[in-house]
Amino acid sequence: MMLDTSNTTDTLSDFLRRPLTVRGREIPGRLFLAPLSKLGNTAFREQVAGYGGYGLLFSEMCWARSVPCGNGHDQGGFMWREDEDLGELVCQIFGNDPEAMGRAAAIIQREGFFGVDINFGCSVAAVCRKQCGAALLRTPDIAEAIVAAIRKAVDIPVFVKFRTGWEDRPDHAVALARRFEAAGADALTFHPRVAPDRRTRPPKWAYIGEVKSAVSIPVFGNGDVFDRADCARMIATTGCDGVALGRLALAKPWVFGEWTGAFTPDADIYRTCARQLTRRLERYYQRTTALRRFMRYAAYFSANFLYGHTLYARLHRAQDMDAVRDTLERFFDIAPEVVKRPNMNRFR
Ligand SMILES: Cc1cc2nc3c(=O)[nH]c(=O)nc-3n(C[C@H](O)[C@H](O)[C@H](O)COP(=O)(O)O)c2cc1C
Repeated sequence: MMLDTSNTTDTLSDFLRRPLTVRGREIPGRLFLAPLSKLGNTAFREQVAGYGGYGLLFSEMCWARSVPCGNGHDQGGFMWREDEDLGELVCQIFGNDPEAMGRAAAIIQREGFFGVDINFGCSVAAVCRKQCGAALLRTPDIAEAIVAAIRKAVDIPVFVKFRTGWEDRPDHAVALARRFEAAGADALTFHPRVAPDRRTRPPKWAYIGEVKSAVSIPVFGNGDVFDRADCARMIATTGCDGVALGRLALAKPWVFGEWTGAFTPDADIYRTCARQLTRRLERYYQRTTALRRFMRYAAYFSANFLYGHTLYARLHRAQDMDAVRDTLERFFDIAPEVVKRPNMNRFR
């Protein structure tokens, strides 16, 4: 479907609210929370869920071998709330052993998740050193065997998230996409950057169009969508079936609700959202973990403000969550100026 970008707001929200079927199961919309290690946790998902508007939420990545240890602790990210709707949640796993990945996927299915997502995109050194994440794009036979093992183990939708590869070769990405589809993947999330590039150069959206044209399963585009116009342009220029948001969702967890018309933020949204998130993190994590997790959000959240660097520096001096809340209140009391398009690279 081509989007008319001249009337971005209406046509975009119509498109994002249009249901999509994956492996015979309906998804209510086309905007997705991308998997975010340590950040796409259960507390953050509760925050996002409160604003609605998303098609599915993807969890933080979970180490496949830790999945059999079950819910309840922060077992490598395999954790959720009692009242969490697992029917709208896709659990992302990483690992390099097809059998262990298949076993983890079977447990994910048994617990009632909407689907399982395979991480072939993470290029963090610690992950690639273990021959996991994006490292597997160098060994397509193993990557394909992982998809096939998971396909064999479950009936729920199987998603694959991957990057261009290790060379700037869209033909390689296209070949990988075809192999994943043939091995049984039901949908792909594609981030068109080469693996060593940790979001420093712009992603090549044109490659999303190439991947989309090469397969018959849905393809979700991902990378550097920071406002509505970006989102409309990605859809219009690539023909992708949906869009996965990473850092923008961390900066504005209500973005899914806002862009689909499910939620209208008021002028105090930044304050209320940050305050709620501190409380939720405290509810699900021990004090030091909650504080450490909040600090990870601080970089993205601070990017919303013209003088966000002062907020970021002050938050980093906070010794506990009460001090964090105090800092937030004082910052918002002076009505900080919000920037239109958060600069996500500013606080890295
Ligand atoms: C803090 C952080 C953690 C991430 N963790 C994961 C992860 O666990 N699994 C994954 O596949 N991608 C992960 N990514 C990549 C994102 O899902 C996404 O591909 C990337 O941020 C580009 O999208 P964006 O421009 O919308 O942020 C992570 C990115 C960030 C910034």
